[in-house]
Amino acid sequence: MILTMSSNLKKYFIITYGCQMNLHESEKIAGILSSMGYQSTNNENDADVIVFNTCCIRENAEDRAEGNIGALKKLKRTNKDLIIAVGGCMTQQKGQAEELKSKFPFIDIIFGTHNLEDFKSLFLQKISGKKKIIAVEEKEGPVKEGTPTTRTSFPNAWVNITYGCNNFCTYCIVPYVRGRERSRKMQDVINECKQLIKDGYKEITLLGQNVNSYGNDIDDENTNFANLITEISKLDGNFRLRFMTNHPKDFNLPLIKAISSSSKVCKSVHLPVQAGSNRILKLMNRRYTREDYLEKVKTLREYIPDIAITTDIMVGFPTETEEDFNDTVDLVNRVGFSGAFTFIYSRRSGTPAATMDGQIDEEVSKKRIMKLIDLQNSINREQSKEYLNKTIEILCEGYDEKKGAYLGRDTYGRMAYFTSPVDIVGQFVSVKIIKTGGISLIGEIVNDK
Ligand code: 5AD
Ligand code: SF4
Repeated sequence: MILTMSSNLKKYFIITYGCQMNLHESEKIAGILSSMGYQSTNNENDADVIVFNTCCIRENAEDRAEGNIGALKKLKRTNKDLIIAVGGCMTQQKGQAEELKSKFPFIDIIFGTHNLEDFKSLFLQKISGKKKIIAVEEKEGPVKEGTPTTRTSFPNAWVNITYGCNNFCTYCIVPYVRGRERSRKMQDVINECKQLIKDGYKEITLLGQNVNSYGNDIDDENTNFANLITEISKLDGNFRLRFMTNHPKDFNLPLIKAISSSSKVCKSVHLPVQAGSNRILKLMNRRYTREDYLEKVKTLREYIPDIAITTDIMVGFPTETEEDFNDTVDLVNRVGFSGAFTFIYSRRSGTPAATMDGQIDEEVSKKRIMKLIDLQNSINREQSKEYLNKTIEILCEGYDEKKGAYLGRDTYGRMAYFTSPVDIVGQFVSVKIIKTGGISLIGEIVNDK
């Protein structure tokens, strides 16, 4: 065995903002740095390299990143050798790299979303003496395979299946910073999943801005999302399969059938509705109506009666009236979501909605979102009550230091906390629910599997 003095190794610290896609891309940045002999640290004061992986989907994500980058000025002054790199969606916006450079002259490397795989060569240029590096490729390139990955969320593993987005919802910046949709080859995805299962991962989450349109850019009719999850489900091993995000316009019957016929695919689907008013949905360019959405939910429940449906909802989109908002409230009541991420519309420069008339006052939006959160909380409380005294199968995902309990989710994505005398992270356990609160549950292990 080779023993290394850990204190001699150079260390990296990565700060991630935004979605699962970004969290997974940070695992790739970590993988690249690890392959160069760097080690991770949780303490930025201890780091030789600090990487910010940024998000720009809403203004507050950008503000937070900028605040934290600004705070590094002091650290850079005391540690001249510290390398600071900033990448991700924020840097990919038009003119943003130049702006960051002048606002924060102490940043060493600025790299765009299309330059992630080049991070190693950018980093090498920096350590071999180049002063400042800005690499923001305007256009996306072909899918690249084989980027080293240091996974950080055992027993869960994220697997990209598509990059980019073709949908151009009018509020959304993603298509501008992530480029057009590109799918990975089905065999590459399957091989990655096979390896993950072999390595002991118990839950795989397939990632894409719209996983349902997977394969549309590949000239092979068998390469589609329903087939992909069917094929992955056939792999040997005890594991769960999840995926996100779906788009209601592409969420079709073959997919519903594929979900219902596999025991590995979790019985929970994230289906962002965004709004319940047809007028607003049209302005958003979502390309479905509330009736279409409710019809899909009905079909989904016909095939999988106990399916848990979660969603994203936005309030305060330009011109949203009280009546439009009430349509959203009505839809939420009709569907009975198992969870909803709620957002106040954030004006993103460069998107069509940013220049629309009728931008909504922040105070109005705040009132609307509070009403929606209250409603969803009360739905969650009611749904949680149904869990009382039931025994559910949980995949133990980690230990919560603050709560002093292990935690994990059932197939419906519902979180439960429980204690165990031994470490059971990564194991499927039967948990009897003894207490229910808001969205999460408290239980006790009844028998280890
Ligand atoms: N403002 C607020 N929320 C947004 N989202 C996307 N763009 C915006 C924006 N400009 C939300 C959508 C999407 C989720 C990931 O983020 O609800 O589904
Ligand atoms: Fe944005 Fe719409 Fe694409 Fe989702 S589907 S990433 S909301 S443009």
